[in-house]
Amino acid sequence: MDEKIIIIDFGSQYTQLIARRIRELNVYCEIHPFSNIPEIDGSVKGIVLSGSPCSVRDEDSPRMDLDLFLDKLPVLGVCYGAQLLAQTQGGNVQASTTREYGRAILSERNDKETLFQGISSNSQVWMSHGDTITELPSSAEIIASTDSVRVAAFKFHDKPVFGIQFHPEVTHSTDGKQLLENFLVGICGCSQTWTSDSFVETTVEELKETLGNDKVVMGLSGGVDSSVAAMLIHKAIGKNLYCIFVDNGLLRKNEFEDVLTSYKGLGLNVKGVDAKARFLNALKGLTDPEDKRKAIGRTFIEVFDDEAHKIQDVKWLGQGTIYPDVIESVSVKGPSVTIKSHHNVGGLPDFMKLKVVEPLKLLFKDGVRDVGRAIDMPDIILKRHPFPGPGLGIRILGDITEDKVRILQEVDHYFIQGLKDHKLYDDVWQAGAMLLPVQSVGVMGDERTYESVVALRAVTSVDGMTADWAHLPYPFLAKVSNDIINNVKGVNRVVYDISSKPPATIEWE
Ligand code: XMP
Repeated sequence: MDEKIIIIDFGSQYTQLIARRIRELNVYCEIHPFSNIPEIDGSVKGIVLSGSPCSVRDEDSPRMDLDLFLDKLPVLGVCYGAQLLAQTQGGNVQASTTREYGRAILSERNDKETLFQGISSNSQVWMSHGDTITELPSSAEIIASTDSVRVAAFKFHDKPVFGIQFHPEVTHSTDGKQLLENFLVGICGCSQTWTSDSFVETTVEELKETLGNDKVVMGLSGGVDSSVAAMLIHKAIGKNLYCIFVDNGLLRKNEFEDVLTSYKGLGLNVKGVDAKARFLNALKGLTDPEDKRKAIGRTFIEVFDDEAHKIQDVKWLGQGTIYPDVIESVSVKGPSVTIKSHHNVGGLPDFMKLKVVEPLKLLFKDGVRDVGRAIDMPDIILKRHPFPGPGLGIRILGDITEDKVRILQEVDHYFIQGLKDHKLYDDVWQAGAMLLPVQSVGVMGDERTYESVVALRAVTSVDGMTADWAHLPYPFLAKVSNDIINNVKGVNRVVYDISSKPPATIEWE
């Protein structure tokens, strides 16, 4: 990377959001925990110090040697980062007398500051802190205040080092993005050339160099991450990428065929493997959700290993890992030392011993979608709702049989197709149906029935961590319910799940 910003993470819940905002401004950035800073080479244009749940007044709060970059590079300290700058350079930080949380207005501001260019007067910012800077170092001055926070922003006289008490990365700071852009472009001199197109170009070049004439095997799931990762590798090495798409029998109706066709349309060298019977067999009699997950995971590994063995001289395993899976998570007491132990090293399937290639490991989810658009990935893959790896296996509550899978596939199809037909699919983050282990009494014609209940679930969300139930129109729900009960044999009752996450989860198992 020609130029980058380093974000030093002190454990704030907002650190990833800072990174996403910076990337939205077409500047590449990396998050590193305060206790493990990489070498600061010529490509680093500036440093952002994140917030933290800790207080700089605590003895065991996260610390680092700021001299590594303080007189060499522009620095922006955010919240805890600002307090750390103030305290370590000769200022003072005390507990706030009032809790400073929520919206505030930057009522006083030095408009000549580059940091504030293009920002409206009385700009709203988001505060979230229990400490306050009571005294600045003698070499620093206040550049903005709110009614209750005197040192809302400050800078050092002799170097481009700034501290801001508020959070520019959250949308409640209405000019936060402009402020970040001012720092990145006006102060750090970043060129804003990190785009999806440039990412594709450099990644494909790097993959060509790394992989040469080697063969890569990769499992596809139909999801965005594995599909985009595969396309990048495909652009680099073409037919030397061997993709495997497994039908575990727990996919949506027609999904295996549809996705396989669209993969082939993209030119991917992909093999569809029908392993339905093997999965059903492995699931026989299992009712506990975790047991089912394990059986599905284990069977996938077996099937994939069998298939990988059929490819001669394969050297690499392609994976769709993305950045949030990679960032070392920082506990406030320092990054936890996780020892990755494989209890069964001797017994690992062979494909797990391959070298791993992960072309998306620097991207957030939204970045993956942008890259997908840049390489013309079709909407059937790009706009697809997330779907759990164990598929319908965790949406059939209790034990799984072929018949139950068929019923749920039909139900799910009426629901999902209905969402698409009514142009509601893209408004919903994830949707699906659950087959409940409950029979209910109904009446059809003159006969009483005793059949299954299904629950429909649709949620709105940003990342699946929290979710609200989607407020779908009643006429739509009424139509879908009718369609299901009239057409899917074995179902006589449809309910709609109106629980949010938390406290419920998205899936029922
Ligand atoms: P929950 O149910 O935890 O789901 O609110 C959050 C997101 O994760 C998906 N999910 C899974 N994905 N394997 C997966 O690959 C699983 O075992 C699994 N369980 C839940 C779920 O579909 C939602 O998108």
